[in-house]
Amino acid sequence: MTEEPGGPGSTPGSTPPVSASSGSRVIPPVRGMNDVLPKEIGAWQHLEQTARALLAAYGYEEMRVPLVEHTQLFRRSIGEHTDIVEKEMYTFEDVGGDSLSLRPEATAGIARALISNGLLRGARHKLWCTGPMFRHERPQQGRYRQFHQIDVEAVGFEGPDVDAELIALGARLWRALGVTRVRLVINSLGTAQARARYREVLVAYLRAHESALDEDSRRRLSGNPLRILDSKEPRMRPLIEAAPLLTDYLDEASRGHFQALCDTLEALGIPFTVNPRLVRGLDYYSRTVFEWVSDALGAQDAVCSGGRYDGLIAQLGGEPTPAIGFALGIERCVALMKVAGAAPEPAAAELYIVASGERAEREAARLAEQLRDALPGRVIQVNLGGGNFKTQFRRADRSGARLALVLGEDELARGVAAVKPLRREAGQTDCALVDLPARIGALLAQERVAAADAACDAQEVAGAGSRAEQAGRD
Ligand code: HAM
Repeated sequence: MTEEPGGPGSTPGSTPPVSASSGSRVIPPVRGMNDVLPKEIGAWQHLEQTARALLAAYGYEEMRVPLVEHTQLFRRSIGEHTDIVEKEMYTFEDVGGDSLSLRPEATAGIARALISNGLLRGARHKLWCTGPMFRHERPQQGRYRQFHQIDVEAVGFEGPDVDAELIALGARLWRALGVTRVRLVINSLGTAQARARYREVLVAYLRAHESALDEDSRRRLSGNPLRILDSKEPRMRPLIEAAPLLTDYLDEASRGHFQALCDTLEALGIPFTVNPRLVRGLDYYSRTVFEWVSDALGAQDAVCSGGRYDGLIAQLGGEPTPAIGFALGIERCVALMKVAGAAPEPAAAELYIVASGERAEREAARLAEQLRDALPGRVIQVNLGGGNFKTQFRRADRSGARLALVLGEDELARGVAAVKPLRREAGQTDCALVDLPARIGALLAQERVAAADAACDAQEVAGAGSRAEQAGRD
């Protein structure tokens, strides 16, 4: 198991090995809770923007629910005998004596919000939310104590059409992000009654082999026997392989629902595998469950998981309302975007303004504001904190800017600013200050074209190189 002291963005081992209580002057981050550094944020923003646009295009509306809920909400929805409720919740008593918990997931909060705000009454909702979730799990690569989800819920729909729509949305998101190494696994858990029948058969089977069970499974036998099927313990494998299948105990309606989902997925051209052992770790599921998994993520291979929870809203005191949803793990999705080379870099500066002398610095600040008015969206940085030209040009270079705008006493006296390309060999040109915004707009556009051309040339050279290499091998 790879322990990752820092987060997905930090260098493993870079976190000082001290505890908050050790008296060190440096306070370490909380284990399993990560900073998302600027070099990472481009991928996060790209994922969030792509998902936001897709969800809007499918008619899903954003909502926000609190990070903290009454502990009872999670106990009653996720289930008393699940790992999340038994050992992973951040639960505390607030000053008023209420037991509250940081949300380990968003579905329960959304269901609660629909009930508390009187939004059910036969209405249908297509909703999503995003934000941090908290589970006190053992941190390892891809598994954190604070992690982020994009959570999508369709409430008031019986399916299976909406089941297929949610899966198609996921498939489209992978395509839009350029993520390729994911595959879909689905199963049906049937109705609560069908599951109760199966549970009896499974418990009888497991009791007959009790000596072969590991400690965790023995503990689960009375509380949550279905989760035993999910055990990662190698010596349990043969027993699990030979266990009776839930699929054989499904009720007719659930069987029909599942078949219709499979048929629609086939019609949509979305490949899938049926895994009769997929049971999921939360108790509220019924009928359809699914997971998008990847072989590029290591042990924590699920990047997006969900299913139907037709009984949950009634169980929480709302009127009986069928529902289905999924949550995508942002950290795991960003990891897959990196594997696919599809994680964009943060936007670099485009123009860096270099100024020497008090008067020129003041003028630089004024011109920068004028340029920001005229060229919204362009990334313009002004040199801050003085420095000689050499220092300022070094900063300009580090900023990634394509153009430097230079202002000194001489330029001011002539009513011009000098503009110098930083990424290609070219001399500097003078631009009159009176029509600076229009000139800079045109020069930045020209630089973008030059950069695109250079990227194309580099690709062609790389392509020719690998063709020559291939020819050499042939
Ligand atoms: P879940 O399977 O517990 O389902 O989590 C969904 C996704 O969140 C996982 O597939 C994974 O990508 C990510 N995830 C879970 N735990 C961690 C962790 N400790 N560190 C990093 N990523 C993690 C739910 O949360 C359900 N509420 C999904 C749902 C919505 N079902 C119906 N509607």
